[in-house]
Amino acid sequence: MRKPLIAGNWKLHKTIPEALDLIEALKKDLADKTDIEIVVAPVFTALVPVAQAVKSSNIALAAQNCYCENSGAFTGEVSPALLKDAGCSHVIVGHSERRQLFGENDELINRKLKAVLAEDLIPIFCIGETLEEREKDEMMDVLKRQVTVGLNGLSETEMFKVVVAYEPVWAIGTGKVASTDQAQEAHAFVRGLLAGLFSTPVAEQVRILYGGSVKPDNVDGLMAQTDIDGTLVGGASLKAADFIRIAR
Ligand code: G3H
Repeated sequence: MRKPLIAGNWKLHKTIPEALDLIEALKKDLADKTDIEIVVAPVFTALVPVAQAVKSSNIALAAQNCYCENSGAFTGEVSPALLKDAGCSHVIVGHSERRQLFGENDELINRKLKAVLAEDLIPIFCIGETLEEREKDEMMDVLKRQVTVGLNGLSETEMFKVVVAYEPVWAIGTGKVASTDQAQEAHAFVRGLLAGLFSTPVAEQVRILYGGSVKPDNVDGLMAQTDIDGTLVGGASLKAADFIRIAR
């Protein structure tokens, strides 16, 4: 019922020529994949050339971040309207690197989500606990806060467009993937939160991606879990062969 979504977050990597090389390889080898949605998130400077390269392909374009206002005196920021203009259909919002390194809190992330949805773009809304929070047995409280505040005020119609990405911070870029049981437990918990905050149809239809050291050799186990509807891939999305294997 939920179409799997495989997203590659290229983070702060790849020049425009490198980005174009990677996208050409993905286009060639994933052209026949219509049973999943494929999304790539290059750096801002590569968005326009990559948007041109993926036109008429089955690959959609995401930005890695945005601001919550569409224009004004906000030096250095990029708005959802401009991302749409550049060819994006998706925006990653609230990635743990934004939360940890750039001080983004749940309230700001909530404003960003609303701004993204107002432009009819699809937010990929990231949540996840740190190692310290997990060890203190606070995982569920943290996820509950992130989901409740982050999604505050969204309508049910808007919620059908949202994609959630559960990324335990301790698994990001560390090579320590969550076990399939740990990931499934968190995903089922988040789906339960969505049912309580919104409705059963929202909980049943919203896709929840897993992110954190997803690789070709662990993706199958993760994707076999009932509540895992796709992956948000960092490091392994930078190599065409790895990302193609994950998508396949
Ligand atoms: O957005 C992607 C995540 O941060 C995962 O990154 O696959 O390098 O662990 P990773």
